[in-house]
Amino acid sequence: MGGVTMANAATSNNAGSNAGNGERPINLYEKHEWKHPTVVAGVPWKNPVGTASGTFQYAAVRWFYDVSQLGAVSTKGVSPVPWEGNPGVRTAEGPASNVNAVGLQNPGVDHYLVDDLPKLKEAGATVVSNVAGHSDDDYAEVVAKLADSPADMLEINVSCPNVSHGGMSVGADPVALSKLITRLRKLTDKPMIVKLTPNVTDITVPARAAVEAGADALSMINTIVGMRINTRTGKPIIDHVTGGVSGPAVLPIGLARVWQVRSALPEIPIIGIGGIDSGEKALEYLYAGANAVEVGAAALFNPTAPLRVARELDDLLDERPELAARLAEGRTWR
Ligand SMILES: Cc1cc2nc3c(=O)[nH]c(=O)nc-3n(C[C@H](O)[C@H](O)[C@H](O)COP(=O)(O)O)c2cc1C
Repeated sequence: MGGVTMANAATSNNAGSNAGNGERPINLYEKHEWKHPTVVAGVPWKNPVGTASGTFQYAAVRWFYDVSQLGAVSTKGVSPVPWEGNPGVRTAEGPASNVNAVGLQNPGVDHYLVDDLPKLKEAGATVVSNVAGHSDDDYAEVVAKLADSPADMLEINVSCPNVSHGGMSVGADPVALSKLITRLRKLTDKPMIVKLTPNVTDITVPARAAVEAGADALSMINTIVGMRINTRTGKPIIDHVTGGVSGPAVLPIGLARVWQVRSALPEIPIIGIGGIDSGEKALEYLYAGANAVEVGAAALFNPTAPLRVARELDDLLDERPELAARLAEGRTWR
């Protein structure tokens, strides 16, 4: 990983003021005039960097920095009723990876509609509402409730590895995925992103199934199935045994998946996710063919990470006018 670890990613981001491009410090708390916007499935983003679902405490963060500065905020997956998530130990952290089996804990869509979503919209954020379900009926109920909400985009999570029904089991089966997305398409006119799992042999198969069923955009990757062992007890650290791996270690995997899907589907908007903790790494995703990116685990260590990544990328794009011009028009490098 070129010496980049979760630990040093965290310590290098500790202040609101960071040496972004190595030449001058970035003050994350001052208002910034974004130079390089993008467009994802017709929705304008101020810059190409959003937050990845489940990794950003937006309700709290909005008190200490301006979340409307982000390209978009993808919120934690919401289900029809509150979910408690998985019991016991749910995370195992390493120097370059984070394994989690949170299990989509959330307060339910009704709470989301009166609390998180209005707070974020009041703060001026572009909101991507991430949708979770244990069954097709679950997804349909949430999408129907979000259809008339102020959410800017929906992101259908068919890729969580930590639930026994729904999640990855739907996203890895192109027939089940096609059936679900066809049903959801009829329930909303909002731009619908389908979030794909990397835990398949060929990601272009579910990608194509989602697009043919009506997805307006794809995001990838969700986490990769993994585990850690406690060598004192000889048992898995996480009670769920396996969890989803995220963080710097997954960057090359996310990049390859974006590259593969962009090669197979030249027109579909793609949001690249996985292992991004700098503007330089976000840029790699844009060159792989993404329209935008989302920052996940880096925000668990420091909630300012997505904004810092956005500011670094804004400067890096100054030197790449052709890429910047394409992004501004909703086109991509590849
Ligand atoms: C603690 C945690 C919770 C997550 N919750 C969700 C979720 O609710 N919905 C979803 O689509 N992805 C969820 N993810 C996956 C992330 O959004 C992202 O796809 C993944 O972590 C890879 O990006 P990263 O390496 O930047 O973290 C979660 C990830 C973590 C670490």
